[in-house]
Amino acid sequence: MKEMKFHKASASAPGKINLVFAVGALGDDGYHEAHSLYLALNLRERVDVVGPADFGLSFRGDLPARHLASIPTNTDNLVVKAAKALAEHVGRTDYLDNIFGVYKTVPVAGGMGGGSADAAATLAALAAAWGVGHHPDQLAALAAKLGADVPFALYGGVANGVGRGDQISPLPAHQLPDTHWVLWLSDQGLSTPAVFARFDQMQIEAGGDPRAARDLPDLAAEFAAVNTASDLAAMMRNDLQAAAIDLLPELKYKIEHFEKLGALKAMVSGSGPTIAALCQSAEVAKRIADQLSHDGEHAIATTGPAEGTIIEDLETNEPDEGDFGLNHGAN
Ligand code: C5P
Repeated sequence: MKEMKFHKASASAPGKINLVFAVGALGDDGYHEAHSLYLALNLRERVDVVGPADFGLSFRGDLPARHLASIPTNTDNLVVKAAKALAEHVGRTDYLDNIFGVYKTVPVAGGMGGGSADAAATLAALAAAWGVGHHPDQLAALAAKLGADVPFALYGGVANGVGRGDQISPLPAHQLPDTHWVLWLSDQGLSTPAVFARFDQMQIEAGGDPRAARDLPDLAAEFAAVNTASDLAAMMRNDLQAAAIDLLPELKYKIEHFEKLGALKAMVSGSGPTIAALCQSAEVAKRIADQLSHDGEHAIATTGPAEGTIIEDLETNEPDEGDFGLNHGAN
């Protein structure tokens, strides 16, 4: 009897925050040197793949409907680019003959790597569906071509970024206990190039030169000495924070408000506008997130470090049965 080559698989990957973002000189290519410390969070993006079928790509999840609706569902999406890259890598052409169902928990456009996590989860899920290797080491080179944050979503944990902050290597984090976080999201966006440009401008206003060479910290060495949440709070910093606050002054209020509510340390993550607050315990994080939500704010409690890509069980871990193929078709 002829075997039917139907496949289905599911994988998840984590979002991230930057615990440290240290900015160096502006280069001739318009990018700044940067050293960054990444933390993967237990806010996971899950991608289910079923095929062969007419192409479909749909997004659902624990996010405001307008955020989900803002995600492109055509072949420009990083999910499809990831599928195409894997297909080329293994000598297949049928990557569009699949239905991709993405279940999101990472906020959209918050600088938390949600799109990169979608790409990483797609690589792992489709590799599992096709019966090719899905270990992060087997997918890392493909992931790097899709975007700077995609390899980190494969590995998860804690990582050190050098170069433009995007040459990433995993760091051992056994000494770090689980850490508890509250993320405070903004409805107003902040553009990454605008924040970097304001950073440069502020240096000029202070008599400095954005192109002048500056020493950047060895974050791997600093992180090796972090043993507690308080140590981590003392290490956290972001050179872009002042520029982000200058462009969006409410961020300063949010940082101060977090600290009044009892967080150990609150900070703009990356170029913002998400504010990440480290808390002493799960109880404190929950209390603060509940308080902010009660006040009508968009706040999420989560933990880290989180694992990288995980192959999920499609049968038992379906968050909400049944709507594969929503937004059906390549539009
Ligand atoms: O990496 P991405 O394309 O998101 O960067 C967007 C913009 O942010 C760049 O065009 C550049 O203006 C700025 N940037 C920078 N230095 C970095 C990363 C981004 O100046 N290390």
